Amino acid sequence: MSNIGVTVITGSLRKESFSRKMGRALAGLPAPGLTFSILEIGDLPHYNEDYEVDPPAAFTRFRSAIAASEALLFVTPEFNRGMPGVLKNAIDVGSRPWGKSVWNGKTAGVISMSTGPIGGFGAHHALRQSLMSVNVAVMPHPEAYIGNSPSLFDGDGTLIDRSCADFVTGFLTSFRTWIEKQRSETRS
Ligand SMILES: Cc1cc2nc3c(=O)[nH]c(=O)nc-3n(C[C@H](O)[C@H](O)[C@H](O)COP(=O)(O)O)c2cc1C
Repeated sequence: MSNIGVTVITGSLRKESFSRKMGRALAGLPAPGLTFSILEIGDLPHYNEDYEVDPPAAFTRFRSAIAASEALLFVTPEFNRGMPGVLKNAIDVGSRPWGKSVWNGKTAGVISMSTGPIGGFGAHHALRQSLMSVNVAVMPHPEAYIGNSPSLFDGDGTLIDRSCADFVTGFLTSFRTWIEKQRSETRS
């Protein structure tokens, strides 16, 4: 079984972010044939269509990285019942110039997280809505809403909660199947 490279995009920029810790922890799980690399989005300027005359280097770098990605996995917190602005900005940057969206036809999964019990439900569905609009095939099921994030990691950022690790491993197993299904549908 050949490895599939998954580009991980986290919706939080802070150093001790639980979403970022989860993004890093993915590589340590017994995921079936997936490798992970985190793509940073913190250096993207706010989207401004005027920039398209001579796009900032960060736009070009980001667009190229998404275009080259085999699959995408979003790990995001919830900000005020929606997705963080940096994440929405990244989606907007990738979606332009008109007719050249690098999201078109990509395959993705979404994991939302929160410090409370609700697991970022609002962010999760706001993100799905935007991804649908740019024609990204988001895995419908299983859904990953992960709550109580501070209790899941030790001081080094290791994912120590066994039931969460098992859940995310199952999620990744389904994600691998989802990616292969999308690939075979694209070929046929
Ligand atoms: C601006 C802001 C808005 C937030 N809004 C929500 C929210 O709507 N729902 C929620 O569960 N947590 C909310 N939180 C708390 C986050 O879940 C918490 O700060 C989390 O640790 C942020 O993710 P991170 O650890 O990946 O940085 C908010 C935090 C910030 C900074």
